[in-house]
Amino acid sequence: MHKGIAIYPGSFDPTTNGHLDLIERGAKIFEELVVAILRNSEKTPMFSVAERLEMLRALTGHLKNVRIDTFDGLMVEYAKSLEATCILRGIRAISDYEYELQMALMNRKLEPTLETVFMMPADKYSYVSSRLVREVAQAGGPVKGLVPEVVEQKLREKLELAYKFHDEMHQVTPVPGGKEKKRKKKS
Ligand code: PNS
Repeated sequence: MHKGIAIYPGSFDPTTNGHLDLIERGAKIFEELVVAILRNSEKTPMFSVAERLEMLRALTGHLKNVRIDTFDGLMVEYAKSLEATCILRGIRAISDYEYELQMALMNRKLEPTLETVFMMPADKYSYVSSRLVREVAQAGGPVKGLVPEVVEQKLREKLELAYKFHDEMHQVTPVPGGKEKKRKKKS
């Protein structure tokens, strides 16, 4: 176990199963892991910072050495304020590498004492990203298995109309108990 604090920064809009997998892996390696949500007023997020904070807190409540926080401005400065020694980032595929390398080297230039540590999420999540989850959900598509249940529920609430439209188009009948069955088309 690595002594000290590590930061896992990101947008988490929304948290995916890949993020959660990485948090669980990170929690086993670092003494304390701070999951830090960027408060970025430039982007228009799907979930507010408060919603993302609440979801992440609910999802990580069982991990005693994990804390959820938000930050603004330069990540390295936030890390310094916490006296963190490591930044944790996930790499899913080679396509992530270039951006992550640039960011890690820029952060090292800004703060040479801060080390970036990369971990790989489970391969079954290697194609899962918040952006694609948002895209699928916005079109009313299923995101089961890609995001935790609490996130799936929140997406359904937020995108109620999109789901209603999709389900009507595809003749999906909601069944009490949560399962859905396809209606038989009349001949
Ligand atoms: O989940 P994301 O969107 O890939 O996370 C990117 C994040 C938040 C880690 C990155 O944009 C960041 O650290 N932003 C804070 C501003 C900063 O420090 N920029 C310089 C990074 S080289």
